[in-house]
Amino acid sequence: MAATWLKDTIFYEIYPQSFYDTNGDGIGDFNGIIEKLDYIKDLGCNALWINPCFDSPFKDAGYDVRDYKKVAPRYGNNNDLYRLFGEAHKRGIKVLLDLVPGHTSEEHEWFKMSQKAEENEYTNRFIWTDFCFEPAKGLNYVGGESERSATYALNFFKCQPALNYGFLNPTEPWQLPIDHPDVIATREALKDIMRFWLQHGCDGFRVDMAASLVKNDDEKKTGTSAVWLDVRKMLDEEFPEAAMVAEWSNPPLALRAGYDMDFYLNHPGNGYSTLMRDYFVNDKTKEDHSYFKKDGDGDINRFLDEYLTWYEDTKGVGYISMLTCNHDTNRPRFTLDPEELKLAYAFLFTMPGVPFLYYGDEIGMRYLELPTKEGGYYRTGSRTPMQWNKGKNLGFSEGCEDSLYLPVDGEADAPTVEDQEKDPDSLLNVVKGLLALRHREEDLQADAEFKVLVAEKGKPFIYKRGDLTIAINPSDKECSAALSVQGEVLYSLGSANLGSEITLAPQSFVVVR
Ligand code: NOJ
Repeated sequence: MAATWLKDTIFYEIYPQSFYDTNGDGIGDFNGIIEKLDYIKDLGCNALWINPCFDSPFKDAGYDVRDYKKVAPRYGNNNDLYRLFGEAHKRGIKVLLDLVPGHTSEEHEWFKMSQKAEENEYTNRFIWTDFCFEPAKGLNYVGGESERSATYALNFFKCQPALNYGFLNPTEPWQLPIDHPDVIATREALKDIMRFWLQHGCDGFRVDMAASLVKNDDEKKTGTSAVWLDVRKMLDEEFPEAAMVAEWSNPPLALRAGYDMDFYLNHPGNGYSTLMRDYFVNDKTKEDHSYFKKDGDGDINRFLDEYLTWYEDTKGVGYISMLTCNHDTNRPRFTLDPEELKLAYAFLFTMPGVPFLYYGDEIGMRYLELPTKEGGYYRTGSRTPMQWNKGKNLGFSEGCEDSLYLPVDGEADAPTVEDQEKDPDSLLNVVKGLLALRHREEDLQADAEFKVLVAEKGKPFIYKRGDLTIAINPSDKECSAALSVQGEVLYSLGSANLGSEITLAPQSFVVVR
């Protein structure tokens, strides 16, 4: 594990399209992020993850990169981003960019060269079969679009051809082994992009589809892990404080592949989903037993069963990142009200590892039902403009309403930063309090031991972080446990009776030393 600064770090994810527009064109920009750095610092976040902000045709919101070294003009120019790094650093804020290693846009120069019939440096930069009617077995593929008589493999949408990191055990003549010079060239090109941004002042990367690189990989992801371990070696030698967080959601594998952090994502039915999103976006008939729904009759063991195995397995290797949400996920406010969110966040921000807060979740922004934008589909509803105040476009942009990247929440009670700053009990102020507490108490930060004391249905969930005892009751019923909890209350929501037995009022949370 390389980056020491992660021990006391809370990330803020920014979808740059929707954060703050300073030039009135209806879309967020780098200057807008710079203007809001003081807000982010005051909130208690000391690191950013910015979604892809590179030149792109935006068929997948920027995850289709056309030029890795040039920012998208709609956000500003490269110098604006360098200035953002500098301004963030002045305030003690680190910045991770989003690295998309598995695919480019179909408009990337490398891909255009790769499509040519005549052999060139980029012929093998992407995965091609060797005949126009030969399918790329086992992969999604496209034929009939290039001069070259071959089909090419996709990594995600049709606009995203897969970069070629080779096949673990090639079975077809067109599948290159992972040590083929052309495959190594792809890996070196990736390192070159990373060096470019790190030299300009970024602090590391969130890595898109980190597990997707080597094809026909085995269950342990031997091939893909070898790529990342090689990248890690470069970072250790050249940028020892650079951090990487994987979009992998398999911490035992990702953290051993050289990642500092891995996201615990909400794959339907997994442990994390049972906390706040015990539903399937496409299935409205399923009952929601999310642990943080006050009447959900949830069970924390559905989360713990998976989490504890990973936690024990990865202790000292790297960090599991818990998140409020991200740009691919329904906002937690979709099903949880602000009081439920306070409890959910109290839990997330007192867990080990490195937490991530998605912009707008600190005020409980709603998930909006919207038509798709830039390949977002259902995800679009979580990507709407930040709600700063009750002014024009909720303070997001001075542009005309029609020009906005996405519409703002039109409800009269749309939550805003300005309103919530004035209310001591607001979700925003609870988040600030929790983050400040985490920064004050080393026992709440990334490394201190996590131990479950009580996790029985119908009882409060009680756990230790270092020397602190934390109890939580997200339900609408009072509950108790025959456990002696006594000491100084460092923080509470709702109310708790301590003593030889502990009782928590409905929707309560307490941290005791
Ligand atoms: C994961 C990203 O988070 C998502 O937004 C994107 O569509 C896919 N990877 C493809 O890059």
